[in-house]
Amino acid sequence: MNVMCGIVGVTGNENAVEMLMNGLRRLEYRGYDSAGIYVNDQNGKDYLVKEKGRVADLAKAIGEDVHGSTGIAHTRWATHGQPSVANAHPQVSADGRFYLVHNGVIENYIELRDKYLQDVTFKSETDTEVVVQLIDYFVKHDNLTTLEAFRKVLYLVGDSSYGFLLMDREEPDTLFVAKNKSPLLVGVGNGFNVVCSDAIAMLNYTHDFIEMQDGEIMILTPEKVDIEDEEGHHITRLPFHVSMDASEADKGTYPHYMLKEIDDQPTVMRKLAQTYFNDDGQVTIDDELLADLQSADRLYIVAAGTSYHAGLVGERLFERLAAVPTEAHVSSEFAYNSPILSKHPFFIFLSQSGETADSREVLTEVNAKGYHSLTITNVQNSTLSREATYTMLLNAGPEIAVASTKAYTAQIAVEAIIAKALGEATQQVAAADFDLRPQLGLVANGIQALVDQKERFEAVAKDNFVDQRDAFYIGRGIDYAVSLEASLKLKEITYIHSEGVAAGELKHGPIALIESGTPVIGIITQERTASLTRSNLAETAARGSHIMTIVTKSLAKAHDDIILEDVDEMLTPLLTIIPAQLISYYTSLLKGLDVDKPRNLAKSVTVQ
Ligand code: AGP
Repeated sequence: MNVMCGIVGVTGNENAVEMLMNGLRRLEYRGYDSAGIYVNDQNGKDYLVKEKGRVADLAKAIGEDVHGSTGIAHTRWATHGQPSVANAHPQVSADGRFYLVHNGVIENYIELRDKYLQDVTFKSETDTEVVVQLIDYFVKHDNLTTLEAFRKVLYLVGDSSYGFLLMDREEPDTLFVAKNKSPLLVGVGNGFNVVCSDAIAMLNYTHDFIEMQDGEIMILTPEKVDIEDEEGHHITRLPFHVSMDASEADKGTYPHYMLKEIDDQPTVMRKLAQTYFNDDGQVTIDDELLADLQSADRLYIVAAGTSYHAGLVGERLFERLAAVPTEAHVSSEFAYNSPILSKHPFFIFLSQSGETADSREVLTEVNAKGYHSLTITNVQNSTLSREATYTMLLNAGPEIAVASTKAYTAQIAVEAIIAKALGEATQQVAAADFDLRPQLGLVANGIQALVDQKERFEAVAKDNFVDQRDAFYIGRGIDYAVSLEASLKLKEITYIHSEGVAAGELKHGPIALIESGTPVIGIITQERTASLTRSNLAETAARGSHIMTIVTKSLAKAHDDIILEDVDEMLTPLLTIIPAQLISYYTSLLKGLDVDKPRNLAKSVTVQ
């Protein structure tokens, strides 16, 4: 099973191998434990190369003579079945006629295998091999065309998740493409066509993409793209233009995407101030969205991981600025344990990628019940964006590193923008007094001051984190919300066990984990709770911890460690997270780990 992989296909271009390999490099953030490519030169020669490890390992394995004009390729993130050459994609039918790459999970593959394929000897442990063998089976056994067999298999796999690219040696310039709950886009070129999990993969070759809907089949040849719905009826759909430049997805002279993305944050803050404020300094969001928000009696923010942590900050922003009750929820929990909803709920989905399956599960249910929703995302035309009532873009530029940084701060800034707009519309004094546009300028300067002190954070990482087994971030209120994100950053790229703890909760249990030298970092930005958090830090120090503080200037004391520029108390998460991002980055680097591609993770989590 392969749940968060990157897939790419090309038809009709002599440079197919180069295009596919460049595409895989751009998609590697989606999975990176094995990779493979199949190309056909249209003159009876074809090549299948698969390798365990990174795309770079596959590139080394591809010899000089591997060439072709049509092909498919895959980079994998495995869940079942070890990363291995046998389990890597493309998977091949027994007689070598059909080649398939897949992103998703076929729920009923064992039943299908046992029902139809008892005579087949399988070479891999993958669900994907069952699908490609089934296509072969129906072509031979039921005398179906490739397209008919493909359609039949799509019917049989039911509501499983998939993005499929299929090639048939007997129609070597054709790509058969289908998707369900898994992202895929078709790109239109001049004399060639491409398909990819993310437009970033093919931006060097085209900027015109056609959306693909669940259940559709697309048949790509060099000259055309045929779209068919589930019943086989033809559909016409015009391409949309992606204006992003391919170089935006490059890391330039930076050693890692994560460092570049941390450094991008002041620019992102300024860009959001430009995008969502008019020349008179008034906050501007879509009128219909604002009306919908005004008629809601409760906001439900639904998200996963870092985006959920941004939602926890949003909860406080909406309640304080717009006086509307707000709840942030983890999407995988909400989907199956949803709370009793208010009479007029409105849903806000936070998702950098716009593809997170857990969040989409909730959105599907929200749509089925007829509720309205907003997706706040970094990816134009992503699934969550298309399926929600409204979209607001983060405009943060591509975020490639698995550890999310600039998307988190952009999400909080956009939440603040919406909360201010809503609060002003409902005449809340707090919203009127909240001078957000100039504040975003102060935030940008405050972030810049922090990212300019990289050597300092590298030293903190070296002296206090690299050799530690455990670490704790603590805070109260909005500082607690940031503690959770700070802790996630540390654990996911340094593999140090880390927890974000509500400072007042330490004494109710977690303090038992404190040992001599354990780092405990206190985040202190709220006047009301500053002295309480300081006392909680002192309690851990009395048990041997090594305490550090991240404090805003106006609350700072003589022995504080990291002092931040003062910004509005509600916007401090935009600054307090930056030291934590940099400390995590340098700790990972000093431990010799793969900062951008930490073990066991993938950027876009398209399975539940
Ligand atoms: C955070 O660093 C992770 N990459 C992860 O927690 C991520 O935020 C989560 O998977 C949600 O992704 P999304 O924002 O694309 O929906």
